[in-house]
This record gives sequence, C-alpha cells and structure tokens, in this order.
Amino acid sequence: MSLFSHDIKTMDDLFVHQLRDIYYAEKQIVNALPEMIQKAQDPTLKQGFETHLGETKNHVKRLEEVFRLHGKEAKGVDCPAIDGIIEEAEDVAGEVEDKQVLDAALIAAAQDVEHYEITRYGSLVAWAKQLGRGDCANLLQQNLEEEKATDKKLTSLAESAVNRKAA
Ligand SMILES: [Fe+2]
Ligand SMILES: [Fe+2]
Repeated sequence: MSLFSHDIKTMDDLFVHQLRDIYYAEKQIVNALPEMIQKAQDPTLKQGFETHLGETKNHVKRLEEVFRLHGKEAKGVDCPAIDGIIEEAEDVAGEVEDKQVLDAALIAAAQDVEHYEITRYGSLVAWAKQLGRGDCANLLQQNLEEEKATDKKLTSLAESAVNRKAA
C-alpha cells in the first residue's frame, strides 16, 4: 500500500500505515546489523553496533506493544526507503578495501539509517499525541530517544579516531 493509496483516509489510517512502515524497517535493520558488526574494525564501533542491535530488537517489541494498545495487528508494509538505504550501505561497504575507510563508510551508512528512523518516530510521536494516544506516544518516544543517542555516538566516533586514522 503506498502512502497515497485510497486506503488512507484518516489520521488514524496514516498513523497505522507509518507504524507498519517503521515496523518493517526495524526488522530489516535487525537483519542488516550483524553484517555491519562483522565488518566493523574499530572495537568501539563494533561494540556500538552490538549495543544498537539489542536496542533495535527492543524497538520491534515496543512497536508490537503500540500495535496492541491501538488494537491493530502488528504487521509490516514494504518500505522501499529503508531497503534502499540498506542496499546502498551494502554496496558501499562492499567496494571499500581499506579497513579504516570501511569503518568511516559503515558509520555514514548507520547514520543514514538513524536519521530515517528519527524522522519516522518524530512524526509518529506527534500523530499519536494528536490521536489522544499518549500511551503509544510514550513508547514511540523511547525508541526515538535511543535512535538520537545512537546517532550522537556515531557522530562522535566519526569525528574522532575512526576518521583520523583514515586520513
Ligand atoms: Fe530503531
Ligand atoms: Fe536505530
């Protein structure tokens, strides 16, 4: 179902559609992170990806709770945006031979993913509140905070050791 499908008529439909979009995205991220962990060279980066894999599995669970609270079936819809981001990350990582440059590429790819999640959760939190679903907004906000914290960690990694070594 595309965003402009006629099946989306109300704010509630839009909320549920985007919930299904991020649910699909989070599951794809759970699938993609092990390869990034395996490829990362810097131990701090590797550990950071490990930690975020655990958080991401928990994001899936929180989303399932949001579906439950909202009385909707937890299911995903295809999200070509996240598929494209992950595909591009795999392409770029595949082409980089220098290990430290590879880390820089992995950080950039991970930040693409985090930024996508941050925009999605930002809208979802706002819409949940608008729909009077403070309970859902609260859970979505927790995911949002963890995405923001991960993005910050990646920025400081990018600015410190990893990129310096690559230069
Ligand atoms: Fe997430
Ligand atoms: Fe994330």
